[in-house]
Amino acid sequence: MVYSEKVMDHFANPRNVGEIEDANGVGEVGNAKCGDIMKMYLKIENNMIADVKFKTFGCGAAIATSSIATEMIKGKPLDEALKLTNRAVVEALDGLPPAKLHCSVLAEQAVKSAVADYYTRQGIDPTPFVGVIEDHCDHCDCE
Ligand code: FES
Repeated sequence: MVYSEKVMDHFANPRNVGEIEDANGVGEVGNAKCGDIMKMYLKIENNMIADVKFKTFGCGAAIATSSIATEMIKGKPLDEALKLTNRAVVEALDGLPPAKLHCSVLAEQAVKSAVADYYTRQGIDPTPFVGVIEDHCDHCDCE
């Protein structure tokens, strides 16, 4: 399996790792088949992602995708962060091997789940903004 230099870089030196003590949006998603778990912490101020950190217990591709996803949403307005797709994450990493594409879905879902938590804490139904979050990957073909 061949990984791009960007994937290797984000895997070896993941950005924004950790947790935010006073996060006001926390999301956790998991892949039932491979057992990988991704937890995303957001500090949202004035509808902007003021800070973001993550913890991923999973494969290298899951770590690299969460790392680059945090870079892509940091400082962005909420509605833009919600537009982050797993495809954009994969493109930013210069691609992923086909068997690892599902790992990037985890990153997209983790962001959405954390934003949904933020809306819920505000007493707002997140569904119109975030949609329905799948917290599993049906087409996971991890060995
Ligand atoms: Fe399942 Fe990467 S998230 S192997």
